[in-house]
Amino acid sequence: MTQFPEVQIRKFLPDEEIPYSLLLLADETIEAIDSYIHNSEIYILEQENSTIGIYVAMLIEPDVIEIKNIAVKEEFHNQGFGLFMLNDAKKRAKEKNCKSIIICTPDIAHKQLYLYQKAGFTIYDIKKNYYPMHYPKPIFEDGVQLKDMVILKQDLR
Ligand code: ACO
Repeated sequence: MTQFPEVQIRKFLPDEEIPYSLLLLADETIEAIDSYIHNSEIYILEQENSTIGIYVAMLIEPDVIEIKNIAVKEEFHNQGFGLFMLNDAKKRAKEKNCKSIIICTPDIAHKQLYLYQKAGFTIYDIKKNYYPMHYPKPIFEDGVQLKDMVILKQDLR
């Protein structure tokens, strides 16, 4: 029995339309999403057949998974669904015998940093000036320009 018996996480089907509006909650542009989405596995969080969340997992090394995108529809935030999806991603990565799982986020994303550490990730590296170098326009969140990217990692073995 899961924490959310009425909720399920299923693999995205190849003939489904990519839910960009949901993915754009976690990434800035469709171009950025397109750079990983076609080489990744997509998982859909559903409640009574309606999509409420998504995560995207990419094998970046033979035994390392990166969660490239995780998002929950706004009206469902802070109900534990983000943590639920992170635990699902870890479980599936372990089943694939991956040695570790990583996730990246801007250094100013306090909620995400808190959530990922609560899920067992620890800060592994910081890529200085990542966002200005990888996105065509400056990105602002709550009036602060995104600059450095934090990489968090969790060993699975
Ligand atoms: N500051 C600190 N912590 C907060 C804040 C805040 N402002 N707001 C909520 N929290 C805490 C909650 O209290 C909760 O912790 P608790 O269980 O100890 O109370 C935790 O953050 C939220 O946990 P969940 O409910 O499991 O997370 P949620 O279902 O809201 O999903 C997510 C989290 C996916 C980050 C969601 O907020 C979202 O979709 N945000 C927009 C997209 C996004 O930013 N995605 C991540 C980008 S990085 C990437 O995709 C790799």
